[in-house]
Amino acid sequence: MAYQDFNMEHQWLPFTPNRSFKKDPRVFVAADGMHFTTHDGRQVIDGISSLWCVGAGHNRKPINEAIKRQLDTLDYATAFQASNDQAFKAAEMIAGMAPGDLNKVLFCNSGSEAADTSLKLALAYHRARGEGHRNVFIGREKGYHGVGFGGMSVGGIPANRKAFGAALLPRVDHLRFIHDPVNHAYINGVEPEWSEDLAAELENRILPLHDPSNVAAVIVEPVSGSAGWYLPPKGYLKRLREICDKHGILLIFDEVITGFGRMGSNFGADYYGVVPDMLNFAKCVTNGVIPLGGVICSDRIYDAMMNANASSPDHAVEFFHGYTYSGHPVACAAAIATLDLFKQDQLFERAGQMGKVLGDAMHSGLKGLPNVIGIRSLGLAGAVELSSVAGAPGKRAYDIFMDCFHHGVLVRPAADNIVICPPYIVEKEHIERIVNVLADSIRKNA
Ligand SMILES: Cc1ncc(COP(=O)(O)O)c(C=O)c1O
Repeated sequence: MAYQDFNMEHQWLPFTPNRSFKKDPRVFVAADGMHFTTHDGRQVIDGISSLWCVGAGHNRKPINEAIKRQLDTLDYATAFQASNDQAFKAAEMIAGMAPGDLNKVLFCNSGSEAADTSLKLALAYHRARGEGHRNVFIGREKGYHGVGFGGMSVGGIPANRKAFGAALLPRVDHLRFIHDPVNHAYINGVEPEWSEDLAAELENRILPLHDPSNVAAVIVEPVSGSAGWYLPPKGYLKRLREICDKHGILLIFDEVITGFGRMGSNFGADYYGVVPDMLNFAKCVTNGVIPLGGVICSDRIYDAMMNANASSPDHAVEFFHGYTYSGHPVACAAAIATLDLFKQDQLFERAGQMGKVLGDAMHSGLKGLPNVIGIRSLGLAGAVELSSVAGAPGKRAYDIFMDCFHHGVLVRPAADNIVICPPYIVEKEHIERIVNVLADSIRKNA
C-alpha cells in the first residue's frame, strides 16, 4: 500500500508537525509483538511501547479474546445510576494492586481526564471537610498531566501552556525542575543523590507564599516521563509526603506512565515506597488497546465524601463528576485480561530485569557520542539528552527520531531527548538493535 492511497486531508494529527508529516508520513497498518508493519510493508520495532502503553507487546490474544467476548455479552451500559460487572471486577483488581489504603477507583478514559478528576476530587474533598478555601494546586516545572485545563495548568511544559493564557487555572504554583545536568547527567539504574534538599522549597518558599492552609494538593509524576525521563532525587518523594502530611495537603501521583510495571513494580509508589492520597493511571492498564484511565483514591477521601453526605437524602449524589464512558465494560474487560496477563507472564519482574539491560546498553553504546550530554535510565526506560542545535531547540532529537524510523526503530523525541521505553517483552537483541540504530543516527546528525 502506498501512502498516496490515504487521503490525508482530513485528519489533524495530535502533537505532530502536520505539514512535514504529510511529506514523509509514518502510517502503521499492523502490529505484532515488538513490531509494527508500515503501509509500505516495512517492519519497525516499537521502542516506545506506543507511547508507554503496550507493556505486554502488540496483538496479545488473551486481551483481544476478552474484548471480543465482552462485545458479544455486554457491549455498553450507562455508567450513571448503574454499572456493569466488568467495572466492579477491574476496580477490585486495580485496588488490590495499589499500595496502602488506595482502595477506591474512579474510572475515566485517559490520563488527561484522570488528572482533572483528581484535581476536582481534591477540591471537593476539602470542601466536604469544611476547608473549601483550600484551592491552590502545586505542580512541578516540566511536569505533564495531559491537556485538560486542570492538567495543563499544573503541568509545566512551556510549549503546552503558552497559547492558552488566561484559560490556565489561576491558583497554581510549580515546584522546581528535578534535574541537575552537572552532577547527575549520567544515571544508570540508581536514584540520584543530591546534596541539596530539593523538596525544601515547598516548605520554605511555595507554601508560605500561598499559606499552607490554602493549598489543596501537590501533584507530581514520580518520574517525569513526557519531559524526557527525569528522575527524582533520592528521598524527594518521601519529603513531599512528609510536608503534605504536616500541612493537611493531598499528594497526587500521576502514574499514567510509571503505573503498571514500567518501574519493575506495580506502581512508582511501590518503587519509591511512598503512598500518595490519589494515584492516576491510564495507558498500560489495558495494554493501550482500548482507552481506560482512572484515579485510585484513599479510603480516607472516599469516607470523607460519603460522611459529608451522611444526612443527605437517598437520591443525593456525593460527587458531581463522571464521564459517559467511565468504567466502559469493554475497556474494563480489556483491563482485567491485561492485568491477568501481566501477572501470569510475570511481566513487571521482567520489566525490572530488562531495564538493567537497557540501561547498560544505553550507557555503553551512547555515552561519548557527539552532542550527547546526558543519559538517564531507571526501570524499563531511558533517555539520552543531546545538546540543542543553536536557535532550534528540539531539532536534533526530531531529526534523529526520523532517521531511526527510516531504519526500522521507533523512538520518542522529547525536547532535546530521545526516549526509549520498550514493551516489557523486549529481548536483548531488540535492545541492541534499538541502541545501535540510535547510535548511528546520533553520529550521522552530529
Ligand atoms: C503523566 C501523564 N499524565 C497524563 C497524561 C495524559 O494522558 P492522555 O494522553 O491519555 O490524556 C500523560 C500522557 O502521556 C502522562 O504521561
